[in-house]
Amino acid sequence: MDLLSFTVLLSASLTLAQNQQPLYSTYAFNPLQHLAGIAPYFEPADPPRDPSPPQGCSVTRAAYLVRHAAINANDFDYEEYLEPFGKKLANTTVDWKRTTISAQSFIHGLEMIDDEIEMVTISESKKAGADSLTPYSSCPGYSSSAGSKQSSTYVKTYTAPILARFKSLAPAFNWTSDDVVGMQEWCGYDTVIRGSSPFCSPSLFRADEWLQFEYSQDIMYHYNTGYGQPLSGTIGFPWLNATLNTLSAPPSEDDQDIYVSFTHRELPPTVLVALGIFNNSESTGINNPNATMPLDRINYHRQWVSSYILPFLTNVAIEQMNCSASYGYENVTDPTFYRVVVNQSPQTLPDCYDGPLESCSASGMQKLVQKRGEMFGNFSAACGVTYDNTTDVLSIYSRNLTGRSVGK
Ligand SMILES: *[C@@H]1O[C@H](CO)[C@@H](O)[C@H](O)[C@H]1NC(C)=O
Ligand SMILES: *[C@@H]1O[C@H](CO)[C@@H](O)[C@H](O)[C@H]1NC(C)=O
Ligand SMILES: *[C@@H]1O[C@H](CO)[C@@H](O)[C@H](O)[C@H]1NC(C)=O
Ligand SMILES: *[C@@H]1O[C@H](CO)[C@@H](O)[C@H](O)[C@H]1NC(C)=O
Ligand SMILES: *[C@@H]1O[C@H](CO)[C@@H](O)[C@H](O)[C@H]1NC(C)=O
Ligand SMILES: *[C@@H]1O[C@H](CO)[C@@H](O)[C@H](O)[C@H]1NC(C)=O
Ligand SMILES: *[C@@H]1O[C@H](CO)[C@@H](O)[C@H](O)[C@H]1NC(C)=O
Ligand SMILES: *[C@@H]1O[C@H](CO)[C@@H](O)[C@H](O)[C@H]1NC(C)=O
Ligand SMILES: *[C@@H]1O[C@H](CO)[C@@H](O)[C@H](O)[C@H]1NC(C)=O
Ligand SMILES: *[C@@H]1O[C@H](CO)[C@@H](O)[C@H](O)[C@H]1NC(C)=O
Repeated sequence: MDLLSFTVLLSASLTLAQNQQPLYSTYAFNPLQHLAGIAPYFEPADPPRDPSPPQGCSVTRAAYLVRHAAINANDFDYEEYLEPFGKKLANTTVDWKRTTISAQSFIHGLEMIDDEIEMVTISESKKAGADSLTPYSSCPGYSSSAGSKQSSTYVKTYTAPILARFKSLAPAFNWTSDDVVGMQEWCGYDTVIRGSSPFCSPSLFRADEWLQFEYSQDIMYHYNTGYGQPLSGTIGFPWLNATLNTLSAPPSEDDQDIYVSFTHRELPPTVLVALGIFNNSESTGINNPNATMPLDRINYHRQWVSSYILPFLTNVAIEQMNCSASYGYENVTDPTFYRVVVNQSPQTLPDCYDGPLESCSASGMQKLVQKRGEMFGNFSAACGVTYDNTTDVLSIYSRNLTGRSVGK
């Protein structure tokens, strides 16, 4: 009797399954979205939030921190990659700061009237203290090789079966783990420079092997410029502080409302740490960052995914908004709110989300920067700076710097 009713139930559910269209019937995978710091620019929708400002809010000022484009890429490539957010900036007067070649190409791509936009080049001095867009270079306590040891532990694990496969295919070649990593890296560089690469072929590396490569890079960046590097917040804070001071300053007659700074790949992730976003430990209430990145298996649910955080041309934006027309916020004393947008995806700051769609009020943002300053505002001491003319403050946006036009 029991068996009979069980059989009836089973066949009924089978009929149901046959009549339903599965939502996802095929597995799709693109290795180019898992290449960490070598990934061509893409917008990962992480989280998949609407990039437009919340209803009733308009962006009044914005600052962008942009990682330079690929070495060797041509102007056409820059313009291709930059177009998505370039359009937004096209009709403004902009003061251009950092990696010089990217900045020039960017200006060439956007400038409507020649020489309308000025570019300011900031020295990468090793003695600049916090006053540069490469503050890790002037931070003696920071080691650029941090994370390579931890990463190589995981590389040995994941490359072992791949090496065995390659050895069986080409026994005469002395295959090493580094060859595997190098081939996977070439997939990214080749693609960024030439548009495609045989190393990206799914017959060479399988989807899971790309996820393993990505994770090995995430481990490296975690210890290098992420939550596993005690100096990350220290290195990223001066840009955050200077940017908030600039965005919140009272408007003046010829004030600029968009600031774009070009830098190298090290700075953007440290700014994310200074802001407290993409923190694997967030909402656990426990601060044990290194435990969130095991070296013997992948943490698939991590927030620290370098492909999303630092592809070529990655951009971190802080937007100031006027939300006086936003429902529920009509009567606030100050309608100014801030939003952090990483590669077009709005992010919620764990310490401040009192505005429309979890944006952050002006007073909340001031408190946040003050609190982060108490944690990370001690650049010279934390970095162990020994030269005596150091500074803890980034002042490039407030100083009168001499810019120059780039020309066509
Ligand atoms: C550019 O900005 C100016 C001044 O705000 C405005 O008059 C003009 O209509 C804008 N042009 C476009 C194409 O948005
Ligand atoms: C300190 O002096 C050096 C050498 O003159 C210079 O390069 C550097 O920018 C100075 N640092 C600051 C913070 O002014
Ligand atoms: C193979 O490569 C390893 C690591 O580079 C090296 O130690 C070893 O001597 C090489 N073996 C041969 C046969 O070349
Ligand atoms: C994480 O590991 C790094 C590298 O060993 C270390 O410097 C850092 O202090 C660790 N972080 C914590 C919170 O233990
Ligand atoms: C990351 O999150 C943990 C848990 O909430 C928190 O204790 C820690 O301060 C956060 N790290 C940073 C750098 O904000
Ligand atoms: C916000 O926008 C409203 C409507 O345009 C305007 O009246 C108000 O002055 C603006 N407030 C700020 C702080 O910009
Ligand atoms: C805002 O103030 C107006 C006028 O006092 C009032 O009619 C309205 O209900 C208030 N809106 C909210 C959301 O409190
Ligand atoms: C933030 O910037 C302001 C203005 O430059 C400066 O006075 C202040 O000391 C900075 N805060 C920290 C914690 O460095
Ligand atoms: C800055 O670092 C120095 C040396 O480590 C320490 O004496 C000082 O108390 C620190 N100040 C803050 C505000 O953390
Ligand atoms: C900064 O430059 C502007 C425009 O060239 C000039 O009017 C102003 O006096 C300068 N300010 C300082 C403090 O040098």
